[in-house]
Amino acid sequence: MNVLLIGSGGREHALAVKLASSPLLETLFCAPGNPGIAETATCVVVDVADHAKLIDFCRINGVGLVVVGPEAPLVDGLADALKDAGIAVFGPSAAAAQLEGSKGFTKALCDRMDIPTAAYGRFNNAPKAKAYVRQQGAPIVIKADGLAAGKGVTVAQTLEEALAAIEDCFEGAFGEAGAEVVVEEFLEGEEASFFCLCDGTTALPLTTAQDHKRVGEGDTGPNTGGMGAYSPASIMTDALIAEVMEKIIDPTMRGMAEQGMPFTGVLYAGLMLTADGPKLIEYNVRFGDPECQVIMPRLKDDLLALTKAAADGNLVTSTLDWSRQAAATVVMCAPGYPASAEKGSVIRLPKAADLPEGVTIYQAGTAQKDGDLVASGGRVLNVTAMGDTVTDALEQAYRAVDMVDWPEGFCRRDIGWREIERETNRP
Ligand code: AMP
Ligand code: GLY
Repeated sequence: MNVLLIGSGGREHALAVKLASSPLLETLFCAPGNPGIAETATCVVVDVADHAKLIDFCRINGVGLVVVGPEAPLVDGLADALKDAGIAVFGPSAAAAQLEGSKGFTKALCDRMDIPTAAYGRFNNAPKAKAYVRQQGAPIVIKADGLAAGKGVTVAQTLEEALAAIEDCFEGAFGEAGAEVVVEEFLEGEEASFFCLCDGTTALPLTTAQDHKRVGEGDTGPNTGGMGAYSPASIMTDALIAEVMEKIIDPTMRGMAEQGMPFTGVLYAGLMLTADGPKLIEYNVRFGDPECQVIMPRLKDDLLALTKAAADGNLVTSTLDWSRQAAATVVMCAPGYPASAEKGSVIRLPKAADLPEGVTIYQAGTAQKDGDLVASGGRVLNVTAMGDTVTDALEQAYRAVDMVDWPEGFCRRDIGWREIERETNRP
């Protein structure tokens, strides 16, 4: 089968490597891809926003499955257009992608299906939102309703911060995404990411992972897309997974189907593990980045067969086979990230054969320029390793980080610290 992968980040590099290992694959195309992906797939220049052109490309090249990495094309209706054209697609419809595209939509679903989540209010003007915040007090969380590239959330420790965040939203800091604001109760606990493969009716749990969202060591400083991740996350016990399936995922799948918006693709639940049990912080409608980079290397099943089955509404497998090894990834970033990343610095990667065993460097924000590999985004490399434990995997990953010749790049040196503590204290 010929497959077209959509996207250009480290997540897509990890997906490309996994798809390429399938015996079912003939040719893997990626639009637009990146220099790392180009080692595994044929990168093509097709405007992903131009649905008619993309459909033409699929027809001309006999593409039997499109796998969509990022959320924006999904919210924009790419899956609907492909499906209407008779092309199998792994990813939700625009209607179902509202689970990520509109925080208010997800909150309303939680209400209707009795899914545990933070208490909240929804507002379309500043005075009402501010009155609610004054009444609730701080800490409190302010969220732009729509997609804001991970920047629309303020966890306000003080009333002043919360009021300023509300003003920012309504003054257009996040454009259209901030025309409506969700104000949420502040949840306390540890965060974990939980992923399922979905075919419209069935949700098949993938493994667990945790990422580090803050740019600074000790989980401090501004939020980012994710500075590193590891899998499995031992805090997600089998009992907790069963509880999340029963109280959060299954009612979501039912509720979406009842609304005529069956969910197909990856359902990614951001969870807060509170003293009152797991609560949904948010949904995403795609793999996490960099969580995907630690999930794919551990998956033993055929990703192409699984995504095709999900696209066809035919996910019959009831469990998946995972490596007993752990995986960890360290994200190397360009200077200035996340505020504004400096582009263009030259990166010299070690030869694959020189890397420690079990290490893969996925490329995220890279480009080729005058024969050099250069930084072209904020998060640039995902140095990923396998090991018997998360601690071992991280040791290998940092050995490989030190082999990357990129003086300008930086990374956190404490990825996985919670898991390392747990592994150290394990009897
Ligand atoms: P989101 O984009 O909704 O995942 O929010 C980004 C980050 O803000 C989350 O990963 C959490 O760290 C934090 N956050 C969001 N909502 C809450 C909440 N209700 N309570 C505490 N922290 C939150
Ligand atoms: N790592 C968080 C995300 O993909 O949204």
